[in-house]
Amino acid sequence: MICRSANYYQFRNIPSADIAFCDGINIIFGDNAMGKTSAVEGIYLCALGRSHRTVREKDFIRFGEEASRVSLVYEDCDRRHTLSMAWSQKGRKQCTKNGVVIRKMSEFIGNFRAVLFTPEHLSIIKDGPALRRAFLDNAISQLDRVYVASLQRYHTVLQQRNRILQDSFKDPSLLDTLDIWSRQLADEAAVISQKRAEYVALCEGFVKEIFSDMTLGKEMPRFVYSGERDAESFYRMLCDNIQREVRYGATLYGIHKDDITVYVNDKEARSYASQGQQRSLSLAMKLAEGEIARKLTGEYPVFLFDDVLSELDDHRKQYVMKGLDNRQVIITTCENDIFPQNSYRIHTIDGSFTRVP
Ligand SMILES: Nc1ncnc2c1ncn2[C@@H]1O[C@H](COP(=O)(O)OP(=O)(O)O)[C@@H](O)[C@H]1O
Ligand SMILES: [Mg+2]
Repeated sequence: MICRSANYYQFRNIPSADIAFCDGINIIFGDNAMGKTSAVEGIYLCALGRSHRTVREKDFIRFGEEASRVSLVYEDCDRRHTLSMAWSQKGRKQCTKNGVVIRKMSEFIGNFRAVLFTPEHLSIIKDGPALRRAFLDNAISQLDRVYVASLQRYHTVLQQRNRILQDSFKDPSLLDTLDIWSRQLADEAAVISQKRAEYVALCEGFVKEIFSDMTLGKEMPRFVYSGERDAESFYRMLCDNIQREVRYGATLYGIHKDDITVYVNDKEARSYASQGQQRSLSLAMKLAEGEIARKLTGEYPVFLFDDVLSELDDHRKQYVMKGLDNRQVIITTCENDIFPQNSYRIHTIDGSFTRVP
Protein backbone atom coordinates (compact mmCIF):
# COMPACT_ATOMS: atom_id res chain seq x y z
CA MET A 1 0.00 0.00 0.00
CA ILE A 2 1.36 3.39 -0.98
CA CYS A 3 0.24 6.81 0.19
CA ARG A 4 0.70 8.98 -2.93
CA SER A 5 -0.30 12.28 -1.42
CA ALA A 6 -2.07 13.91 1.48
CA ASN A 7 -4.06 17.08 1.17
CA TYR A 8 -4.97 19.30 4.13
CA TYR A 9 -7.35 22.22 4.44
CA GLN A 10 -7.56 24.26 7.67
CA PHE A 11 -6.38 21.17 9.54
CA ARG A 12 -4.66 21.95 12.91
CA ASN A 13 -2.00 24.59 12.12
CA ILE A 14 -1.98 23.74 8.38
CA PRO A 15 -3.92 26.35 6.35
CA SER A 16 -3.69 24.41 3.11
CA ALA A 17 -1.09 21.93 1.90
CA ASP A 18 -0.59 19.12 -0.54
CA ILE A 19 2.23 16.71 0.28
CA ALA A 20 3.43 14.17 -2.29
CA PHE A 21 5.25 11.05 -1.09
CA CYS A 22 7.67 8.63 -2.72
CA ASP A 23 7.48 4.82 -2.54
CA GLY A 24 10.38 4.47 -0.10
CA ILE A 25 11.60 6.61 2.80
CA ASN A 26 9.96 9.99 3.27
CA ILE A 27 11.35 12.39 5.86
CA ILE A 28 9.28 15.28 7.15
CA PHE A 29 11.62 17.50 9.13
CA GLY A 30 11.32 20.84 10.86
CA ASP A 31 11.48 22.43 14.31
CA ASN A 32 9.04 21.72 17.10
CA ALA A 33 5.44 22.86 16.71
CA MET A 34 5.76 23.30 12.94
CA GLY A 35 3.04 20.76 12.04
CA LYS A 36 4.80 17.40 11.55
CA THR A 37 2.65 15.43 13.96
CA SER A 38 -0.45 17.11 12.55
CA ALA A 39 0.50 15.94 9.07
CA VAL A 40 0.92 12.36 10.33
CA GLU A 41 -2.29 12.55 12.35
CA GLY A 42 -4.17 13.46 9.16
CA ILE A 43 -2.81 10.40 7.36
CA TYR A 44 -3.52 8.04 10.26
CA LEU A 45 -7.04 9.46 10.57
CA CYS A 46 -7.77 8.12 7.11
CA ALA A 47 -6.69 4.64 8.24
CA LEU A 48 -8.43 4.59 11.60
CA GLY A 49 -11.36 6.96 11.16
CA ARG A 50 -10.41 8.67 14.40
CA SER A 51 -7.42 10.43 15.87
CA HIS A 52 -4.76 8.82 18.01
CA ARG A 53 -4.36 12.17 19.82
CA THR A 54 -7.84 13.30 20.73
CA VAL A 55 -11.51 12.38 20.77
CA ARG A 56 -12.54 16.03 20.23
CA GLU A 57 -12.83 16.33 16.49
CA LYS A 58 -13.23 20.10 16.69
CA ASP A 59 -9.56 20.22 17.69
CA PHE A 60 -8.72 19.42 14.06
CA ILE A 61 -10.27 22.65 12.80
CA ARG A 62 -7.70 25.42 12.53
CA PHE A 63 -8.30 28.09 15.16
CA GLY A 64 -10.78 30.68 13.92
CA GLU A 65 -11.98 28.57 10.97
CA GLU A 66 -15.37 26.99 10.31
CA ALA A 67 -14.40 23.69 8.76
CA SER A 68 -11.51 21.37 8.11
CA ARG A 69 -10.63 18.56 5.69
CA VAL A 70 -8.00 15.90 5.10
CA SER A 71 -7.83 13.77 1.99
CA LEU A 72 -5.52 11.05 0.89
CA VAL A 73 -4.64 9.52 -2.45
CA TYR A 74 -3.37 5.97 -2.00
CA GLU A 75 -2.79 2.86 -4.06
CA ASP A 76 -3.58 -0.66 -3.01
CA CYS A 77 -2.82 -3.76 -5.04
CA ASP A 78 -5.58 -3.05 -7.53
CA ARG A 79 -5.81 0.68 -8.03
CA ARG A 80 -5.65 4.28 -6.92
CA HIS A 81 -8.26 5.57 -4.47
CA THR A 82 -9.14 8.78 -2.67
CA LEU A 83 -10.36 9.05 0.92
CA SER A 84 -11.47 12.20 2.61
CA MET A 85 -12.71 13.30 6.01
CA ALA A 86 -14.22 16.69 6.79
CA TRP A 87 -15.45 18.32 9.99
CA SER A 88 -17.36 21.50 10.73
CA GLN A 89 -17.68 23.65 13.87
CA LYS A 90 -21.36 22.72 13.94
CA GLY A 91 -20.35 19.10 14.53
CA ARG A 92 -20.93 17.75 11.03
CA LYS A 93 -18.57 15.07 9.84
CA GLN A 94 -18.34 13.55 6.40
CA CYS A 95 -16.23 10.67 5.13
CA THR A 96 -15.90 9.72 1.47
CA LYS A 97 -14.16 7.09 -0.59
CA ASN A 98 -13.62 7.89 -4.25
CA GLY A 99 -16.14 10.70 -3.92
CA VAL A 100 -18.91 8.50 -2.48
CA VAL A 101 -20.13 9.34 1.03
CA ILE A 102 -19.55 6.56 3.56
CA ARG A 103 -21.86 6.66 6.58
CA LYS A 104 -20.71 3.64 8.56
CA MET A 105 -17.27 4.06 10.08
CA SER A 106 -16.79 0.30 9.86
CA GLU A 107 -16.82 0.73 6.06
CA PHE A 108 -14.37 3.62 6.11
CA ILE A 109 -11.76 2.20 8.47
CA GLY A 110 -9.12 -0.06 6.99
CA ASN A 111 -9.49 0.87 3.32
CA PHE A 112 -6.13 2.54 3.73
CA ARG A 113 -3.90 0.81 6.28
CA ALA A 114 -1.04 2.24 8.32
CA VAL A 115 1.09 1.35 11.32
CA LEU A 116 1.84 4.28 13.58
CA PHE A 117 4.86 4.32 15.87
CA THR A 118 5.30 7.24 18.31
CA PRO A 119 7.46 7.74 21.43
CA GLU A 120 4.39 6.82 23.50
CA HIS A 121 4.58 3.28 22.10
CA LEU A 122 8.05 2.86 23.57
CA SER A 123 6.39 2.38 26.94
CA ILE A 124 3.75 -0.04 25.68
CA ILE A 125 5.25 -2.83 27.81
CA LYS A 126 5.66 -0.82 30.99
CA ASP A 127 2.59 1.42 30.99
CA GLY A 128 -0.93 0.44 31.98
CA PRO A 129 -3.14 -1.90 29.95
CA ALA A 130 -4.98 0.88 28.07
CA LEU A 131 -2.05 1.35 25.69
CA ARG A 132 -1.94 -2.40 24.94
CA ARG A 133 -5.69 -2.52 24.34
CA ALA A 134 -5.35 0.47 22.00
CA PHE A 135 -2.60 -1.41 20.16
CA LEU A 136 -4.97 -4.32 19.60
CA ASP A 137 -7.96 -2.15 18.67
CA ASN A 138 -6.05 0.03 16.22
CA ALA A 139 -4.39 -2.92 14.54
CA ILE A 140 -7.39 -5.26 14.34
CA SER A 141 -9.85 -2.51 13.34
CA GLN A 142 -7.93 -1.93 10.15
CA LEU A 143 -8.17 -5.60 9.24
CA ASP A 144 -11.65 -6.61 10.33
CA ARG A 145 -14.94 -4.74 9.86
CA VAL A 146 -16.85 -7.11 12.13
CA TYR A 147 -14.43 -6.17 14.90
CA VAL A 148 -15.00 -2.43 14.37
CA ALA A 149 -18.78 -2.80 14.42
CA SER A 150 -18.71 -5.08 17.45
CA LEU A 151 -16.41 -2.76 19.37
CA GLN A 152 -18.67 0.22 18.63
CA ARG A 153 -21.72 -1.67 19.89
CA TYR A 154 -19.80 -2.88 22.93
CA HIS A 155 -18.94 0.66 23.99
CA THR A 156 -22.49 1.89 23.45
CA VAL A 157 -23.90 -0.94 25.57
CA LEU A 158 -21.18 -0.43 28.19
CA GLN A 159 -22.18 3.23 28.58
CA GLN A 160 -25.85 2.29 28.99
CA ARG A 161 -25.04 -0.41 31.48
CA ASN A 162 -22.77 1.90 33.49
CA ARG A 163 -25.47 4.55 33.60
CA ILE A 164 -27.94 2.03 35.01
CA LEU A 165 -25.43 0.90 37.63
CA GLN A 166 -24.81 4.51 38.66
CA ASP A 167 -28.47 5.53 38.70
CA SER A 168 -29.45 2.41 40.64
CA PHE A 169 -28.18 4.16 43.80
CA LYS A 170 -31.23 6.39 43.58
CA ASP A 171 -33.60 3.97 41.90
CA PRO A 172 -32.85 0.27 42.60
CA SER A 173 -35.72 -0.82 40.32
CA LEU A 174 -33.51 0.14 37.34
CA LEU A 175 -31.53 -3.03 38.03
CA ASP A 176 -34.43 -5.04 36.59
CA THR A 177 -33.37 -3.88 33.12
CA LEU A 178 -29.72 -4.75 33.63
CA ASP A 179 -29.98 -8.28 32.33
CA ILE A 180 -30.71 -7.29 28.71
CA TRP A 181 -27.62 -5.13 28.67
CA SER A 182 -25.51 -7.83 30.30
CA ARG A 183 -26.55 -10.27 27.55
CA GLN A 184 -25.70 -7.85 24.78
CA LEU A 185 -22.41 -6.90 26.40
CA ALA A 186 -21.46 -10.57 26.77
CA ASP A 187 -22.30 -11.33 23.12
CA GLU A 188 -20.11 -8.52 21.80
CA ALA A 189 -17.35 -9.29 24.33
CA ALA A 190 -17.17 -12.86 23.06
CA VAL A 191 -16.67 -11.73 19.44
CA ILE A 192 -14.05 -9.16 20.40
CA SER A 193 -12.13 -11.41 22.78
CA GLN A 194 -11.91 -14.21 20.24
CA LYS A 195 -10.50 -11.86 17.62
CA ARG A 196 -8.09 -10.33 20.13
CA ALA A 197 -6.88 -13.77 21.16
CA GLU A 198 -6.24 -14.73 17.52
CA TYR A 199 -4.38 -11.48 16.95
CA VAL A 200 -2.23 -11.87 20.06
CA ALA A 201 -1.24 -15.38 18.95
CA LEU A 202 -0.25 -14.13 15.49
CA CYS A 203 1.58 -11.18 17.00
CA GLU A 204 3.52 -13.39 19.40
CA GLY A 205 4.76 -15.48 16.50
CA PHE A 206 6.13 -12.49 14.59
CA VAL A 207 7.49 -10.76 17.70
CA LYS A 208 9.44 -13.92 18.58
CA GLU A 209 11.02 -13.94 15.14
CA ILE A 210 11.77 -10.22 15.03
CA PHE A 211 12.95 -9.96 18.63
CA SER A 212 15.27 -12.92 18.43
CA ASP A 213 16.67 -11.53 15.18
CA MET A 214 17.20 -8.16 16.87
CA THR A 215 18.83 -9.62 19.98
CA LEU A 216 20.65 -12.41 18.10
CA GLY A 217 18.42 -15.14 19.49
CA LYS A 218 19.37 -14.88 23.15
CA GLU A 219 15.94 -13.99 24.50
CA MET A 220 12.51 -15.44 23.94
CA PRO A 221 9.37 -13.34 24.39
CA ARG A 222 5.97 -14.80 25.15
CA PHE A 223 2.53 -13.13 25.11
CA VAL A 224 -0.37 -14.07 27.33
CA TYR A 225 -3.76 -12.55 26.59
CA SER A 226 -6.00 -12.16 29.63
CA GLY A 227 -9.43 -12.56 28.32
CA GLU A 228 -10.74 -15.06 25.79
CA ARG A 229 -14.17 -16.31 26.88
CA ASP A 230 -17.41 -17.36 25.26
CA ALA A 231 -20.59 -15.28 25.60
CA GLU A 232 -22.02 -17.53 28.31
CA SER A 233 -19.05 -17.20 30.64
CA PHE A 234 -18.87 -13.42 30.11
CA TYR A 235 -22.57 -13.28 30.95
CA ARG A 236 -22.14 -15.44 34.04
CA MET A 237 -19.26 -13.29 35.24
CA LEU A 238 -21.46 -10.19 34.96
CA CYS A 239 -24.39 -11.87 36.74
CA ASP A 240 -22.24 -13.23 39.56
CA ASN A 241 -20.78 -9.82 40.40
CA ILE A 242 -23.73 -7.47 40.20
CA GLN A 243 -23.56 -6.46 43.87
CA ARG A 244 -19.94 -5.47 43.50
CA GLU A 245 -20.68 -3.55 40.29
CA VAL A 246 -23.55 -1.72 41.97
CA ARG A 247 -21.17 -0.67 44.76
CA TYR A 248 -18.68 0.70 42.24
CA GLY A 249 -21.35 2.08 39.91
CA ALA A 250 -19.52 0.65 36.91
CA THR A 251 -19.07 -2.49 34.80
CA LEU A 252 -16.00 -4.18 36.24
CA TYR A 253 -15.69 -7.16 33.91
CA GLY A 254 -15.33 -7.39 30.17
CA ILE A 255 -13.00 -6.68 27.29
CA HIS A 256 -12.54 -3.05 28.39
CA LYS A 257 -10.38 -4.54 31.19
CA ASP A 258 -8.30 -6.82 28.93
CA ASP A 259 -4.54 -6.92 28.99
CA ILE A 260 -1.60 -8.66 27.36
CA THR A 261 1.17 -9.80 29.67
CA VAL A 262 4.53 -9.99 27.97
CA TYR A 263 7.26 -12.29 29.25
CA VAL A 264 10.92 -12.46 28.27
CA ASN A 265 12.61 -15.73 29.14
CA ASP A 266 9.58 -16.49 31.34
CA LYS A 267 9.96 -13.34 33.46
CA GLU A 268 7.32 -10.64 33.26
CA ALA A 269 8.79 -7.97 30.98
CA ARG A 270 6.92 -5.15 32.66
CA SER A 271 8.90 -5.50 35.87
CA TYR A 272 11.99 -7.51 34.90
CA ALA A 273 13.02 -6.48 31.39
CA SER A 274 15.59 -3.71 31.00
CA GLN A 275 14.55 -0.46 29.38
CA GLY A 276 16.47 -1.53 26.27
CA GLN A 277 14.61 -4.84 26.09
CA GLN A 278 11.29 -3.07 26.57
CA ARG A 279 12.11 -0.72 23.71
CA SER A 280 13.11 -3.61 21.46
CA LEU A 281 9.87 -5.38 22.33
CA SER A 282 7.74 -2.35 21.51
CA LEU A 283 9.58 -1.95 18.23
CA ALA A 284 9.10 -5.64 17.47
CA MET A 285 5.36 -5.32 18.20
CA LYS A 286 5.05 -2.47 15.70
CA LEU A 287 7.01 -4.34 13.03
CA ALA A 288 4.86 -7.41 13.75
CA GLU A 289 1.74 -5.30 13.24
CA GLY A 290 3.00 -4.62 9.71
CA GLU A 291 3.78 -8.31 9.10
CA ILE A 292 0.31 -9.40 10.25
CA ALA A 293 -1.38 -6.85 7.97
CA ARG A 294 0.68 -8.17 5.10
CA LYS A 295 -0.11 -11.79 5.93
CA LEU A 296 -3.86 -11.09 6.06
CA THR A 297 -4.21 -8.59 3.20
CA GLY A 298 -1.31 -9.44 0.90
CA GLU A 299 0.36 -6.04 1.18
CA TYR A 300 2.35 -4.02 3.67
CA PRO A 301 0.67 -1.05 5.32
CA VAL A 302 2.34 2.35 5.28
CA PHE A 303 4.64 2.88 8.28
CA LEU A 304 4.34 6.22 10.08
CA PHE A 305 7.17 7.00 12.50
CA ASP A 306 6.38 10.18 14.38
CA ASP A 307 9.40 11.59 16.18
CA VAL A 308 10.46 8.17 17.40
CA LEU A 309 13.60 7.25 15.46
CA SER A 310 15.74 9.81 17.28
CA GLU A 311 14.68 8.05 20.52
CA LEU A 312 16.25 4.76 19.39
CA ASP A 313 19.92 3.89 19.70
CA ASP A 314 22.00 3.24 16.58
CA HIS A 315 21.62 -0.52 16.68
CA ARG A 316 17.81 -0.41 16.83
CA LYS A 317 17.62 2.43 14.33
CA GLN A 318 19.70 0.48 11.83
CA TYR A 319 17.61 -2.61 12.44
CA VAL A 320 14.41 -0.70 11.66
CA MET A 321 15.77 0.99 8.59
CA LYS A 322 17.10 -2.30 7.23
CA GLY A 323 13.82 -4.05 8.03
CA LEU A 324 11.75 -1.41 6.29
CA ASP A 325 13.59 -1.66 3.03
CA ASN A 326 11.12 -1.87 0.13
CA ARG A 327 8.27 -0.48 2.20
CA GLN A 328 6.84 2.97 2.33
CA VAL A 329 7.81 4.84 5.49
CA ILE A 330 6.91 8.37 6.49
CA ILE A 331 9.21 9.63 9.23
CA THR A 332 9.03 12.89 11.13
CA THR A 333 12.03 14.32 12.93
CA CYS A 334 13.59 17.53 14.19
CA GLU A 335 16.95 16.42 12.83
CA ASN A 336 17.95 16.86 9.23
CA ASP A 337 21.12 14.80 9.10
CA ILE A 338 20.40 11.23 10.17
CA PHE A 339 18.91 9.85 6.97
CA PRO A 340 20.25 8.58 3.67
CA GLN A 341 20.72 11.23 0.98
CA ASN A 342 18.38 9.39 -1.38
CA SER A 343 15.36 9.73 0.92
CA TYR A 344 12.55 12.06 -0.10
CA ARG A 345 12.78 15.14 2.12
CA ILE A 346 10.04 17.53 3.04
CA HIS A 347 10.68 20.59 5.17
CA THR A 348 7.93 21.90 7.48
CA ILE A 349 7.59 25.49 8.67
CA ASP A 350 4.41 26.75 10.32
CA GLY A 351 2.07 24.34 8.59
CA SER A 352 3.65 24.64 5.15
CA PHE A 353 5.49 21.77 3.47
CA THR A 354 8.21 22.11 0.86
CA ARG A 355 10.03 19.35 -1.00
CA VAL A 356 13.78 19.63 -0.51
CA PRO A 357 15.69 18.69 -3.64
N1 LIG B 1 -6.75 23.45 15.69
C1 LIG B 1 -5.57 24.06 15.64
N2 LIG B 1 -5.43 25.27 15.04
C2 LIG B 1 -4.23 25.89 14.99
N3 LIG B 1 -3.11 25.41 15.51
C3 LIG B 1 -3.19 24.22 16.14
C4 LIG B 1 -4.40 23.47 16.23
N4 LIG B 1 -4.17 22.32 16.90
C5 LIG B 1 -2.87 22.35 17.21
N5 LIG B 1 -2.27 23.47 16.76
C6 LIG B 1 -0.86 23.88 16.88
O1 LIG B 1 -0.17 23.34 15.78
C7 LIG B 1 1.22 23.32 16.06
C8 LIG B 1 1.83 22.10 15.39
O2 LIG B 1 1.77 20.98 16.24
P1 LIG B 1 2.46 19.61 15.84
O3 LIG B 1 1.89 19.12 14.58
O4 LIG B 1 2.32 18.76 17.04
O5 LIG B 1 3.97 20.05 15.60
P2 LIG B 1 5.31 19.18 15.49
O6 LIG B 1 4.95 17.75 15.43
O7 LIG B 1 5.98 19.69 14.25
O8 LIG B 1 6.11 19.50 16.73
C9 LIG B 1 1.35 23.41 17.57
O9 LIG B 1 1.89 24.67 17.90
C10 LIG B 1 -0.10 23.34 18.06
O10 LIG B 1 -0.32 24.14 19.19
MG1 LIG C 1 5.47 16.17 16.75
